[in-house]
Amino acid sequence: MPDSPILITGGAGFIGSHLAEALLARGERVRVLDNLSTGKRANLPDSERLEIVEGDVGDLAQVQRAVAGCRAVAHLAAVASVQASVEDPLGTHRSNLIGTLNLCEAMRQAGVRRVVFASSAAVYGNHGEGRAIDEDTPKAPLTPYAADKLASEHYLDFYRRQHGLEPAIFRFFNIYGPRQDPSSPYSGVISIFAERARLGLPITVFGDGEQTRDFFYVKDLVALLLQALDTSEPGSEPVNVGLDRATSLNELLATLGDLLGGLPPVSHGPARAGDIRHSRADNRRLLARYRASSVTSLRDGLAALLEAPARS
Ligand code: NAD
Ligand code: UD1
Repeated sequence: MPDSPILITGGAGFIGSHLAEALLARGERVRVLDNLSTGKRANLPDSERLEIVEGDVGDLAQVQRAVAGCRAVAHLAAVASVQASVEDPLGTHRSNLIGTLNLCEAMRQAGVRRVVFASSAAVYGNHGEGRAIDEDTPKAPLTPYAADKLASEHYLDFYRRQHGLEPAIFRFFNIYGPRQDPSSPYSGVISIFAERARLGLPITVFGDGEQTRDFFYVKDLVALLLQALDTSEPGSEPVNVGLDRATSLNELLATLGDLLGGLPPVSHGPARAGDIRHSRADNRRLLARYRASSVTSLRDGLAALLEAPARS
């Protein structure tokens, strides 16, 4: 069914809207299911090949309607903030796990097989000082967010073994780029720091700033998601998505200051509950399975982000 749409749950969000744009650019039809909790219609372009369904992945009937007639699914809908899940475990669970289970059921019923899933580095918890984490590292989810992502992986694997679903499970490390919404304290750290630095507003670092993350540029991620939607054999094992580079928040701020020619005042608050100390991807499986020829360095990605207009 080459003419049938690809469904993107969470398609009005940061990553989902970049994926929608890329699919539309190659002539696909796209259907977005999004409850617009953090996503926005304005993130998406106007296109007659784009259908936007406002709805909730926590509601099975709505998911069934959205899946009907689709060729494949990218399942990105979730409360993306780890901190929000610490403060509202039940509310986030409905989106982050029930949503995945609803999708699995709806796909089984409709006979749709391929699904690309946005899991997270959060499933690993804390594993030592800056060591690269491979996919077989024991899982130690520290937060409701991480527990729901890990459980989602297990449900997808059950539907793979039992019902022939073809999940491609990616464990994204920290994704950043244009259109990541900086407006909430729960937003991704780069979006917040870049916005505040640009406007000259004070920046708060939670903890000592020596915690590290492996930051990965959104357009490079989308190139991988497109391959996973297309591939004849997605493989049954999850794949880390990161650069295998650890950057501390203090280093991140130094690079931003360098690019902008200075920084506003930076203060420190208490570290967040459940915050992971170090996170760095062993990406050998990613490089073996997917073409990742032009990955963007953090400095280049930050420069592109700072140059980008509000909607790009
Ligand atoms: P985002 O908040 O911009 O996107 C999430 C989208 O899902 C939003 O448009 C939101 O409105 C929608 N949504 C939330 N709950 C929903 C529900 N119940 N029903 C329908 N739609 C719902 O965040 P993002 O950074 O684009 O994240 C996309 C996915 O990638 C999420 O699953 C997130 O957990 C995962 N992820 C993100 C990162 C990152 O660094 N950004 C890293 C690892 C995993
Ligand atoms: C992020 C993603 C999560 C993903 C995970 C994978 C978001 C909102 N979260 O979580 O979806 O699963 O990566 O690794 O996209 N911080 C500050 N000041 C701020 C904001 C944050 O110091 O104003 C700190 C946090 O305490 C944390 C670090 O920055 O130590 C990163 O925070 P955040 O961007 O929220 O990401 P993660 O919690 O790593």
